[in-house]
Amino acid sequence: MAGSANQAEINELMKHVRQSRQYEAGAVTEEQVQQLLEVAQWTGSSRNTQPWHFVVVNDADQLKALSDVRTPINWVADAPLGVAIVLDGNSEVSEAYDEGRVTERLMISAHAMGLGAGVAWFGDADQQAEAKRILGIPAERTARSVVAIGPSRTSKDPRPNPSQGGRNPLSEIVSYNKMD
Ligand SMILES: Cc1cc2nc3c(=O)[nH]c(=O)nc-3n(C[C@H](O)[C@H](O)[C@H](O)COP(=O)(O)O)c2cc1C
Repeated sequence: MAGSANQAEINELMKHVRQSRQYEAGAVTEEQVQQLLEVAQWTGSSRNTQPWHFVVVNDADQLKALSDVRTPINWVADAPLGVAIVLDGNSEVSEAYDEGRVTERLMISAHAMGLGAGVAWFGDADQQAEAKRILGIPAERTARSVVAIGPSRTSKDPRPNPSQGGRNPLSEIVSYNKMD
């Protein structure tokens, strides 16, 4: 891939992966779901433990139930698809890292297909337990989040307390050879 003609396009695409919380009507096709799952499947993980299971949520009532677990994720009900990430529950730190990696790959893959995606955290232990109950996930597994996916209307944050957008300048977040 190094030096390929579309490298600049790929970099631009990566830089424009945003959190989508508002979706257009429309479905994610079976073929798109399959592609997303294959990208997730091939994500690297600590010692290649692949500590995950993916619950594909394409039932509107299930998405609505998940969205009701916590107010800041109410927007999940508007997405046509969610991929809930279930971890084995064997190693807290490395599985949290692996969860972040697979989440980001799902978001990038969705974006590359012209879809939007957004990560939604279920919340505290009780809220995680409620999400597990809804999705039939055994209590001993870890389930903290679902990645909502669908045709994106906008990446504006519609919540009453929106997250601040934009990014800190490189001059503030990068140093060379020694942190300054
Ligand atoms: C670990 C984690 C948990 C998040 N949980 C939520 C959430 O529960 N609800 C939500 O609307 N956004 C959630 N987000 C999305 C962040 O708010 C978003 O990544 C950040 O505001 C940057 O958005 P942008 O890329 O569109 O600028 C979460 C992001 C991460 C990394």
